[in-house]
Amino acid sequence: MMNPLAQELNDLLAGTTPGELLSDLGQRLYFPKGIIAQSGEAKKLGKVANGTIGMTVINGKPAILPSVRKYAPELQSGELVAYAPTAGNPDLRALWKEEMLKKNPGLEGKSVSLPVLVPGLTAGISYLADLFLDETKGLVAADPSWDNYVLIAGARRNAPFVQFQIFKDGKFNVDGLEECLRKQAETGSVRVILNFPQNPSGYSPTKSEAARIVSIIKDLAEKGTKVMVWCDDAYFGLNYENDIYPQSLFAELCDLHENVLAAKIDGPTKEDFAWGFRCGFITFGGKNLTDTHYDALVKKLMAAIRSSVSCASTPPQSMIFKAYRDGDIQTEKIEFRKVLEARYKLVKKFVTSHKSTAISPLPFNSGYFMAFHLDTVDAEELRQKLLTEKGIGTISIDSHTLRVAFSSLDEEKIETVYQAIYDTADELAKA
Ligand SMILES: Cc1ncc(COP(=O)(O)O)c(C=O)c1O
Repeated sequence: MMNPLAQELNDLLAGTTPGELLSDLGQRLYFPKGIIAQSGEAKKLGKVANGTIGMTVINGKPAILPSVRKYAPELQSGELVAYAPTAGNPDLRALWKEEMLKKNPGLEGKSVSLPVLVPGLTAGISYLADLFLDETKGLVAADPSWDNYVLIAGARRNAPFVQFQIFKDGKFNVDGLEECLRKQAETGSVRVILNFPQNPSGYSPTKSEAARIVSIIKDLAEKGTKVMVWCDDAYFGLNYENDIYPQSLFAELCDLHENVLAAKIDGPTKEDFAWGFRCGFITFGGKNLTDTHYDALVKKLMAAIRSSVSCASTPPQSMIFKAYRDGDIQTEKIEFRKVLEARYKLVKKFVTSHKSTAISPLPFNSGYFMAFHLDTVDAEELRQKLLTEKGIGTISIDSHTLRVAFSSLDEEKIETVYQAIYDTADELAKA
């Protein structure tokens, strides 16, 4: 039997694209009218006393041990040890939306949900998988992709994991993507994750490639297929070439067609150089979705959060909010981005001036990484040899892809690392 609260949300979403795309778990999820909801009401109305929440409150403030307090002296106890709301600090959520509009002017005038704070982008992707994937509802992703996608979609949700080859003839394989999406449409609906700048290749589509991706999705939608696009924007803003489409595809997809639901996954993890903070956001956008629809969708997402981690950690939310509000974060970020761009340029210079019969760089123009395609040598063998003989760490993504994170290589090490990769690959090819 469906819980009545779940049924209520399902009824609100009935007939909409999100309603039709929900997984079995997505349909069952509901946000209880229990402790969290009642405590929220008490926060607003319980002016005399609030005996609802499981925290120790002394003189109206959450208790905090001085030994804990001393490491973050500028934060109030409420900003440090108090529980955060299930969907995150409301001020930070509003701020993140404002920033999203500044970063993506194409969102101007379009209606999207308030971002929901999740404990990192990974958690966000996993929650989307809870809500929209199951045994019959698969996920399309690039090949190669970040290895966590298949773990989340395949192992955790037992959903089909369908991949398209991301590059063909040295270019982004838009035709391969189209063919894969059309085939997936035959299963009844489509869910696809697009990650730009991409992990592991470090590629972002050009303006014309982005336009084609959008038009393929529009065409599928016009022909009656419900399409959900997950935009994994983890590395947003790290573009090093002028012909890259500068916004998130979410800005185009969030009002593309009634049959399209877009979800944006982003956050401070890489954008604000705060990897361990475990802060991320999920924002929904779909043409003609009303505030009631967004509220119902957000409640489903809150149910996924409540039933797994309950809420995200408070101190990082307070720190990111204050850094944006009071700090000089934008100028500081430009400085760090310049460091990454300088490394990108060095790597680009090296790989365009060196040739190997064994390895060739996949297209890259953005982000943290670049990857080599290996024709005649095994990536794991190359990785092992680089590690044990040269003391250089890289990642073998699959048997023919080696990923190098130039984001973690100081400039002066780049020549050494890349020379070693080329030399070692050539040695292996000859052996
Ligand atoms: C493509 C992609 N998405 C998401 C993430 C995860 O972000 P978070 O650390 O916030 O979970 C990563 C991190 O490596 C990534 O490469």
